[in-house]
Amino acid sequence: MLVMTIESSCDETSVALIEDGKRILANAVASQIPIHRRYGGVVPELASRNHIRDIHQVLNEALDTAGLTLQDVEGIGVTAGPGLVGSLLVGIETARALAFALDKPCVGLNHLEGHLTAVLLEGDRVQNPTFPYLGLIVSGGHTDLYVVRGLGDYELLGRTRDDAAGEAFDKVAKMLGQPYPGGVAIDRLASTGNPKALDFPRPMWTRKNLDFSFSGLKTAVAQHLDAHGIPEGQALSDLCASFQEAIVDVLLMKALTACKAHNLTRLVLSGGVACNSRLRTRAAQDCNAQNVELFVAPPTLCTDNAAMLGPIAEHYLRQEGSTHFVGHAIRAQSNMPLGQTERAPARTHR
Ligand SMILES: Nc1ncnc2c1ncn2[C@@H]1O[C@H](COP(=O)(O)OP(=O)(O)OP(=O)(O)O)[C@@H](O)[C@H]1O
Ligand SMILES: [Mg+2]
Repeated sequence: MLVMTIESSCDETSVALIEDGKRILANAVASQIPIHRRYGGVVPELASRNHIRDIHQVLNEALDTAGLTLQDVEGIGVTAGPGLVGSLLVGIETARALAFALDKPCVGLNHLEGHLTAVLLEGDRVQNPTFPYLGLIVSGGHTDLYVVRGLGDYELLGRTRDDAAGEAFDKVAKMLGQPYPGGVAIDRLASTGNPKALDFPRPMWTRKNLDFSFSGLKTAVAQHLDAHGIPEGQALSDLCASFQEAIVDVLLMKALTACKAHNLTRLVLSGGVACNSRLRTRAAQDCNAQNVELFVAPPTLCTDNAAMLGPIAEHYLRQEGSTHFVGHAIRAQSNMPLGQTERAPARTHR
């Protein structure tokens, strides 16, 4: 099946064309990072306006790259949540208008489910993970641990009780006067720093509970800055490396504890923070030591993009067993439970 997927939940406008739920024919992404950088974070109103400005161009770019036309598209998948409602609406209305005009089925998808299953796309790996696997989503808004038993079959084991790991990276970077998105800046500075220079806390360091907490760690950095000022040069790199190490330690301890507790031998890292170079290196080492196979998508599929919706779009479009869905209109949902989809009626059913 040739599926078009559309993502606009935050500050990336993206359209992809995916064959059989795994082959990426195109994955066009227009990032708004330069627009939001001057404000130190995403401004929702600006994000939705820029999605409207960019969506047609991104859509045409995807079709051009794949050498296809709209008539070739057999189904459409679009992010319906979670995300910024004004941003989500741009992708949803684009998808619904296309589905209506082309008389093709359309399904509203969960953004987090996309992160969790992006690793099933064909890429540079020798092989993709088989089910079941442990999925750790580490993104700007989420730090969640799931058992993934199959597409649409997930069990939540733990999640952050306050800030997400990506949010902690972004907020600490802001305190240090570094540009948005902070994770990228801290990763770069930390590469020349000593991770043992400062002893930051490892919040919720217990194997009895798989939840996370990062706001205390952020406060510990703030208190350090209050006492010593914003460091420069090597001291700045050391602080970044020490802060990053605290996050990586907690993420991997909890993920590998969960693998052991649930007899899982495969770990999948996903979401923007999975781009972090220290997390990738340490995950490879720790997984190797504990006989767990590690799978991480390439960085372009970890941050927000439409291609990551390919496996679930194909799954839900096929599951319906019909080319025409009957159902209520797709709604934008700022919060959306994992595994939930939204279906749009095809033209013939109106
Ligand atoms: N190299 C890196 N190291 C650490 N963090 C990173 C790196 N690259 C990106 N990030 C972080 O990833 C986050 C963005 O990831 P992503 O696009 O998946 O989040 P989001 O879509 O905003 O949130 P969600 O998916 O939870 O809705 C930002 O917090 C950013 O700082
Ligand atoms: Mg995301």
